[in-house]
Order: sequence, then C-alpha cells, then structure tokens
Amino acid sequence: MAGEWVDRGRDVTSGLTPMPSGSEELLTVGHVLEGYTYEDIIDDPKYFKDLFLKHKLLCFRELNLTGDQNPEVVRAMGYHVFGHHKEDHRNTIAVEYRVNDPSELLVPWHVENLHQQYPPEVAGWNMELFTCSKRHGRTGFVNLAECTSRLPIETVDRLRDFEFIVARQAEDGEEAKKQVESGSREVCIRNKRALGPDGRLMHGDDSDHYYAHVRKAIETHPLTNEPVFRYECDWIYLDNFIKGPEAGDNWLESQSGQSSTGTCFTYSSESERLEVDRLAQGIYLNPDNQFWWEWTQGDFLLADLFVMAHSVTGGFQSDERRLDVTFNTVEVHDRPVSGEKGNWVAAGFADEEERKRIRKGMLSS
Ligand SMILES: [Fe+2]
Repeated sequence: MAGEWVDRGRDVTSGLTPMPSGSEELLTVGHVLEGYTYEDIIDDPKYFKDLFLKHKLLCFRELNLTGDQNPEVVRAMGYHVFGHHKEDHRNTIAVEYRVNDPSELLVPWHVENLHQQYPPEVAGWNMELFTCSKRHGRTGFVNLAECTSRLPIETVDRLRDFEFIVARQAEDGEEAKKQVESGSREVCIRNKRALGPDGRLMHGDDSDHYYAHVRKAIETHPLTNEPVFRYECDWIYLDNFIKGPEAGDNWLESQSGQSSTGTCFTYSSESERLEVDRLAQGIYLNPDNQFWWEWTQGDFLLADLFVMAHSVTGGFQSDERRLDVTFNTVEVHDRPVSGEKGNWVAAGFADEEERKRIRKGMLSS
C-alpha cells in the first residue's frame, strides 16, 4: 500500500475526488467572541445557539468559567450533558513514539469517539489551566460539513454506503477484523480493559463485552441535516502532515503497512478503503481547510464535534495545560457503562509489559 500524498483538487483514483479546485476561501473558521461573560450566555442562550449552529465553533476568549459553569452553559443551549472530565493529555504524552513538540501533532486529526454508538456531538472545552507558551498546545479544526458540501454529489452518495466499525482500542483489532471479515453486522468484542473505582485501568471481566456499531461514512447532522463525512481515517495518513508528503511516506514505510491505529475496519475491499482513507487525508491535510486556535487560560470553546474533526499540537507537559471538558448530545441516549478510548490512566495497567504494549499502540483523543 503506497503512501501517496493527496493534493487538493487532485483526482485520487476512481472518482473519489477530494475537492473541486479553484475555491480559495478558508473553509473552517471559528467564530471568536471577546468581552463576553457567563451571564451573557445564560441570559440569552438562543442568540449563542443560533451563532453556534451557523459557525459550528464558538471561541470565547477568556470567558473564565468556573468548574460548574461549563455544563450549565451547554445545558442552557439545550444540549444533554453526558460526560464531564478533565483532559491534560498525560496518556498521549506518555505514548513512546509521540513527539511532544509545538510543530508536531501530539493528537492526530480525528472525529471524536466513533467507537461509541452515540459519540459526543458538542464539546465544551474550558481551558482552566494554561501556563505553557502561547503557541504551544494549539487545537486545530476542520469543518467536515463544509468539506463534504464541496464534494461531488456522486462521491457523497458512494460514501453513504461505505460501512465500517471502530473498535475501542488497537488490541481489539484482531477480534474485530475476524468478525467484520465474516460479514457479521453485530460485532461483539470482549472488553479487555475496564476503569477501576480509582480511575485506574484493570483487566475487564471475561463476561464483559461491547458492541462495535456499524457506521456509514456519511452521517446527517442531527440539527442542521447537513451530510457530514465522518470516518476514522487511519492515522498513518494523518500523522506527520506538518513535515509534508515525503515524511508521510517514510512513516508509512516504517510501519511496513501496519496500521498505527488499528481500530477501524471496513466492509469494503482494501482498494475501496484506500480511496476513502486518501480522500480523508486530502481533506484533513489541506491547510486551507484548517483553523488553529491559540489558547490563553480561561478560553472557552464550544465545538460542534459532529462536524469538527480536530487535532492538538505538542509542546507542553500535562501540568501546564488542562481542559475541563463536557461531552454533550442533542438527544438523551442509553450508554453502556464502560471506559472511553483516550481517557485512560496509563499508570494503572496490570503489568509493565502490557503497559508498554498498549502505549505503543494507543493514541488518545
Ligand atoms: Fe478529541
């Protein structure tokens, strides 16, 4: 499998054209709001909700929310809060091959938690601690609704039928792959990890399983009805984008065709999958599609995660940059009680060998 770089406007292979050429406007732009307060939002949530549905990313500079105000803001805007946690990227920083540098991606481009049947549709990100250098630890965004709107309609129609599942972790790959290859539509995987009462990871119970939901590469936005290309592109196509195509190829070669994520499995042929991975690569890695936020402490970002793929650059330690995170959805959904990919506590693995193995393969969102 060759690591071909895909430029904007370049027809990859058989019809999955990444972008029509000739459109130079910046696609993804966060809407920046300065001088606002928590009370402003609570007093007129509809105003901000309308703005949010239009822009998909609201960037409140130094809103300085307190701990409880993040869920209050998203609730006021009509969303259901199903998760509230801290993210300091300690597990990602601990992954051996990650380069923690401001010019590198610490967290590769991704759509949030596609291993879940009901992934978060909105994130409230309150930067409650930020003491690293200003240009470090930036968050990048790509608006997949806008990018999808620029795809040829026949490409979108093909993607509507493109099916895949996402396993929770790389070590579930073999189990998932076998089932997908057998054509199973109900992929049931033994839960090898579980979060213990103290937040540490423990062995999952033998009888504990989870279902990997069959997804399609085009999903419809729950509020705006926009078609959105939401797919877990293999990170081998996304990892080293700052270094450009050559480094991307080198990385691919160094992996000997192995997947660095190993969590996405498709019901299509290898060649079809390759086309879709490259289409996603062409979208994510086009700088014209990207918007980068440079954080200051107290900033609050409201991100429509249904459309906003995102990434994080490095250059910080976990005690220098801490987000208070709410995950939210439009509707209330039943959720299995299980650990989330990407929020695991690396210190809690059962033994050092396992810990090493997981660290090599694990990437965090
Ligand atoms: Fe994420």
